Amino acid sequence: MAAATSAEAEAPNQTFDTILLLDFGSQTSHLILRCLRSLNIYAEMLPCTTKIADLTWKPKGVILSGGPASVYDEVAPHADPAVFDLGVPILGICYGCQEIAWRANSANVAAGEAREYGHADVTIKKVEGADHVNKLFQGLGEEMHVYMSHFDKLVKLPEGFTILASTPNSEFAGIAHETKPVFGVQFHPEVEHTPRGVELFKNFAVDICGARQHWVMSDFIQHEIQRIRKLVGPKAQVIGAVSGGVDSTVAARLMTEAIGDRFHAVLVDNGVMRLNECQQVKETLEKHLGINLTVIDGADLFLSRLKGLTEPEAKRKVIGSTFIDLFEEEAIRIEKAAENTPNAGKVEYFLQGTLYPDVIESLSFKGPSATIKTHHNVGGLPARMMNGQGLKLIEPLRELFKDEVREFGRQLGIHEDLVMRHPFPGPGIAIRIIGEVTPERVAIARKADHIFISMIREAGIYNEMSQAYAGLDTNRAVGVMGDARVYGYIIILRAVTTTNFMTAEPYEFKFDLLKKIARRIVNEVDGVARVTYDITSKPPGTIELE
Ligand code: XMP
Repeated sequence: MAAATSAEAEAPNQTFDTILLLDFGSQTSHLILRCLRSLNIYAEMLPCTTKIADLTWKPKGVILSGGPASVYDEVAPHADPAVFDLGVPILGICYGCQEIAWRANSANVAAGEAREYGHADVTIKKVEGADHVNKLFQGLGEEMHVYMSHFDKLVKLPEGFTILASTPNSEFAGIAHETKPVFGVQFHPEVEHTPRGVELFKNFAVDICGARQHWVMSDFIQHEIQRIRKLVGPKAQVIGAVSGGVDSTVAARLMTEAIGDRFHAVLVDNGVMRLNECQQVKETLEKHLGINLTVIDGADLFLSRLKGLTEPEAKRKVIGSTFIDLFEEEAIRIEKAAENTPNAGKVEYFLQGTLYPDVIESLSFKGPSATIKTHHNVGGLPARMMNGQGLKLIEPLRELFKDEVREFGRQLGIHEDLVMRHPFPGPGIAIRIIGEVTPERVAIARKADHIFISMIREAGIYNEMSQAYAGLDTNRAVGVMGDARVYGYIIILRAVTTTNFMTAEPYEFKFDLLKKIARRIVNEVDGVARVTYDITSKPPGTIELE
C-alpha cells in the first residue's frame, strides 16, 4: 500500500474502524453509508474502479454496492480483483452480489432474466452447523420484508456458496461462501422499504467484520482538533469565508477551537443579504462563539457592479468575482498584519466547508464517465486563491453529512436556531429578484422575506420546511389600496421540503396562514401590489428563482 501523506495520516479512516463501500453507481449507494453511520460505524465510499494498492488504509470490511449496469456490458464496471485478496469480509448488494457470482463464473448470472422491482418477502434459511454464515441474517427471523430492484439475476449458485435467503422469484436472494467471509444479497437493505435492513448491516459490519461502533461525534471533534493542530503547525494562519450558515459557522468554530486567533474568518457584506443579517452573524460569531472575525462592507461595490445586469448567470459571476476581489485583499492585509506579530506565520491554508455529499458526488462512479458536480460555492474562490497565493485547502467537514454537521455544531455549543437554519445561497437576494437588482428592490424583497420567515417561525413550522424565502418579480401589477390605484411589484413566496435539494416539493401551508402572510406583506411593504405562492416542484422548477 502507498504511504500516507501528512494530511491523510490523520484521516478518520486511520483512527476509526472503517468499512469501505465500493460504488458501482447505484442511486442508493450513499444510503449504505448512512445506515452504517447511523450504527456509529465509520464508512467511506470510493469508486468501484479504485485500485486496492492505492489505498492508504485497511478497511475492516468491503461492501460492493448496486449499480445500473449489467455485469455483461462491454463497459461494465468491475472491482479490482485484489479486493478479494484483502482478507476482510465482503458483502455484495444487487449488482455487487452479481459481481461476486460473475467473478466466480460468468455463467452464474443471467442478463435481463428476472426484472423485479418492488416489495418481496425473502425466506431466510438457516444453514445447519454453519454459524459463521448464518450471522448475516441472525436475529431477523424466518422471513424478511425487502425491496428488490434488479434486471439481471443469479441463475446458478456460485461454486463453494450456500443459500441464505430466497424468494419465489430469486432463489439466490441471499448467499454466502461456505468457508470465506463473502456474502451477497440480491435486494437492497439500505432503502427504507427494507425496514430491517440496518440490522443486516449491523450483522455484517459488527459481527462479521468486527468493526467497533465508535464513530461518535465527540470523539470525531477531538480527533479533528488534533488533526488540524498537527496539520497547520504552531505558526501558520488560516483564512476562511463565513456566511452565517451552519456549515461555515461549524467549520469556523472548530478552527477557532483548534488554533484560536490564527484562524481568520471573513464575512463579506455583499449588499444582498437578509434583513439585519450581517449584524446578527457578527454578533453570533464574535460574541457567542469567540471567532476572530473581520466584516468587509462591500454592499455599495456589489450593488454598483450589479447595476444594469438582468441575466442570472451574469449576476452570479459579478457577485462571485467581486467577492474574490474583496476576499483576496483581506487575505493580503491579514498576512501583512501578521508579519509584525512574534508568534504568527504566513497564511497557508484556506478553510472550506465542503460536506460529504459533495465529495461523494465527485467520487461516485456513474457509468464510464464520472459526473462532476458544478459546485454552487462562491465561483472560483479556491482555485484563484490557491493557485495565485499557493494556499492549501483545509476541509474539516468533508467526511460529514449535513445532519452530522448539525450534531457537530450542537456539540461545539452552537445555538439550535443556527444549527437548524435553512441554507442561504452565496448570491443571496440577487438570485431571488427576477431581473435587475437595485437597492430599492433589495429593500422590498428583504422586508417581505423578513415578514414571511418571522410568521413561519411564529407558526412553529420553520423546521418542517427545508428552505423558504420571499422573492420579487420586477414586473409590476395593479392593485387597489384604500381608494387609490397602486402599481407595484409582485412578491413570490417559496417554501420547499427536500432531503437532498436535488428534488423538492412545495410546502403545504394552511391556506389561512398564507392569506395572513400575504395581507401583512402588502400592508407593510411599500411598493408591493401582489403576493403569490410558488407551487412548482423541483424539477421542473428550481428552488431559487434564478
Ligand atoms: P436550486 O435553485 O438550484 O438550489 O434548486 C438548490 C440549492 O442550492 C442553493 N443555491 C446556491 N447556493 N450559490 C450558493 O451558495 C448559488 O449560486 C446557489 N444557487 C442555488 C439553493 O439556495 C438551494 O439550497
